[in-house]
Amino acid sequence: MKIVHSIEEMRSLCRAAKTNGQRLGFVPTMGALHAGHLALVRASLAQCKTTAVSIFVNPTQFGPNEDFAKYPRTLERDQKMLEAEGVSLLFTPTVEEIYPKGASTFVTVEGLSERLCGGTRPGHFRGVATVVSKLFHIVEPDIAYFGQKDAAQVAIIRKMVRDLAFALEIAVVPIVREPDGLALSSRNAYLTPSERKQALVLYRALCRVQTLADKGERNSRKLIEVAQDIFREEPGVRLDYVEIVNQETLDPVSDVSQGALVAVAAFVGTTRLIDNIVL
Ligand code: PAJ
Repeated sequence: MKIVHSIEEMRSLCRAAKTNGQRLGFVPTMGALHAGHLALVRASLAQCKTTAVSIFVNPTQFGPNEDFAKYPRTLERDQKMLEAEGVSLLFTPTVEEIYPKGASTFVTVEGLSERLCGGTRPGHFRGVATVVSKLFHIVEPDIAYFGQKDAAQVAIIRKMVRDLAFALEIAVVPIVREPDGLALSSRNAYLTPSERKQALVLYRALCRVQTLADKGERNSRKLIEVAQDIFREEPGVRLDYVEIVNQETLDPVSDVSQGALVAVAAFVGTTRLIDNIVL
């Protein structure tokens, strides 16, 4: 596995990997890798001749009071995991490489960026869209892989790719969970043992919504109330939002007959976790 720090070298290696029409797959990450990230990597390895992964903790997608400084950084371990999977290219740029002094250009997917996590994390999706568009320009992949775990991120990246005519395909990989249902996340590392138990309330609430929807409940307001009730059973967890929206536009839907995304975000202690299901 080749480890690359500079944009120039990454660009030329990625271009070389695409000669003779060979497919290049790309998995952008912030590191602290777990089985969720590896599911994306494996999807790319299965479909593409070459797989490139980036590890970059992107400062512009963190708010001033968020966890940028303490975000887990486990580069050595991550490298070993990717090498063992068979990844060819690992891009680990510095912040200065990605944001040269004076950089002042940002990508905003208007409308969508204020929805779901964008409501409580202003500027978050602007940072995501900016860094992902920059990574797309550097890597120029044929297919880029994203996790359903970050459903709003998927909707925003898809829209950005359409609006800005990026010549690539977006592939979405299902959520990887712990055996007890907790969605894997790099932030799970922050949880104390007791918080780890409380964190199950996110999945529990989503499962309850799924069960009621399966039984025929179509009214979003009722489904949301039921989820909120489940969160009340876990006083150590502060619900940020539970919303039922159109998966593509992220607009709230009042009735789930046509399918819908049920998304939750909650603070378990000081750790903010998200999860979702698609009805
Ligand atoms: P990060 O949180 O490291 O996630 C990288 C990718 O892994 C994302 O597409 C995310 O949805 C996916 N992922 C995380 N946990 C998952 C799980 N349990 N199951 C399936 N996929 C999972 O998302 C980001 O980084 C950043 O915003 C990034 C796109 C890299 C831009 O900085």
